[in-house]
Amino acid sequence: MIVCSCAVISCRDIEQAVAELMCAPNALLPTPGAVFRHLNKRMNCCTCAPVAVEAIYAAMDRLQHDTRVCPYALAEARNKLARIEQRRARREHVTARHTAQMHLYRRTQRVA
Ligand code: FES
Repeated sequence: MIVCSCAVISCRDIEQAVAELMCAPNALLPTPGAVFRHLNKRMNCCTCAPVAVEAIYAAMDRLQHDTRVCPYALAEARNKLARIEQRRARREHVTARHTAQMHLYRRTQRVA
């Protein structure tokens, strides 16, 4: 299945890249950016980012199931990716709250 139509990247490409990244001596975290760089591709429109993340997680699951990558390295990578996701969600929450406060402030300024 094609994950990124701009750079023409398939699930198989992503799985291969994740396996190579995770087996490297100084294993990089398999983020979409790291995977695309490893494949010598660039994100263009970035609409595939959520699908790419799902494909990376699926690839990690398959690699763990096939015991092709050290399970400890996979567990560590999953923990780091989860922390990144939590930070991103927190940042979005703060931004949404800040935006709501700005709308409320502007509305009160118009009324006054
Ligand atoms: S679909 Fe992947 S960068 Fe556009």
